[in-house]
Amino acid sequence: MTIKNYLKNASNEKWALGHFNFSEIEAIRAIVETAADLKTPIFVGTSEGERKHVGVKEAAALVKAFREEFGIPLWLNADHTKTFEGVKEAVDAGYDAILADFSALPFEENLRLTKQSVEYAKSKNSEIIVEGELGYVRGDSKLQKVIEIKSEDLTKPEEAARFVAETGVDMLAPAVGNIHGIVTESKEKIDAARIADIKKAVGENIYLVLHGGSGLSEADFKSAIEAGISMVHINTEIRIAFTEALKKSLAESPDETTPYKILDPTVVAMEEVIGKKLKIFGSINKI
Ligand code: G3H
Ligand code: ZN
Repeated sequence: MTIKNYLKNASNEKWALGHFNFSEIEAIRAIVETAADLKTPIFVGTSEGERKHVGVKEAAALVKAFREEFGIPLWLNADHTKTFEGVKEAVDAGYDAILADFSALPFEENLRLTKQSVEYAKSKNSEIIVEGELGYVRGDSKLQKVIEIKSEDLTKPEEAARFVAETGVDMLAPAVGNIHGIVTESKEKIDAARIADIKKAVGENIYLVLHGGSGLSEADFKSAIEAGISMVHINTEIRIAFTEALKKSLAESPDETTPYKILDPTVVAMEEVIGKKLKIFGSINKI
């Protein structure tokens, strides 16, 4: 089955594919092992910073190796790619999906560069999935105190309809009350009615992606998926699991100098977070 087959099933049956970021082998191992255990199709992604650390070609080679070893539907996404050069580099390296994220630019400029990205990507790989982003999803994948979401940040359904029709994207990341990262002194509030309106405006063959999954409740995920979300991105929560486990490991064995012995507990900690999310997303046993 292709990515689009899975997206179609997810959309029709009201579940969501999980997308988790990685920048080192411990995270990708935790993601793939958990997905294989739970028999779930899965996306891994690298942001620009993450792929600078792991390497663009290296990320593609790692995913290929994990796919062969575990035999599960596993795909690599170039998350939040903010330049056309970056889009080209990821497409040429063999990424399965690209998020062409020009959402910081004015609408017409976002539309033009996203369309250019779709044309380039599809000319090189007819199977590739391209996602665009419209609206302003604030925040970074880390702990933050307060983020104030403004009404003008939110994606307008009529703009979304024009954006997907003119760019040719397969998926859209809307701003629907979500933020990147976790806020400790304010609260995220997902606007499920807006998700439903956007889904209706873009049509059943365009799949909606919820970014900024960390910090959201099970009820938030369920209402977002019910309203039309077909993929959820998680990063901060696995970053925190990694960091906390690493600190504990170093504190408990201060004389340990073997890297894999220090790092092994981080895989276990990330697997726990990933498994809980996949169960909420409803993607288990969908292979
Ligand atoms: O693209 C990455 C995600 O949107 C991650 O968001 O760090 O809030 O989980 P998060
Ligand atoms: Zn994101």
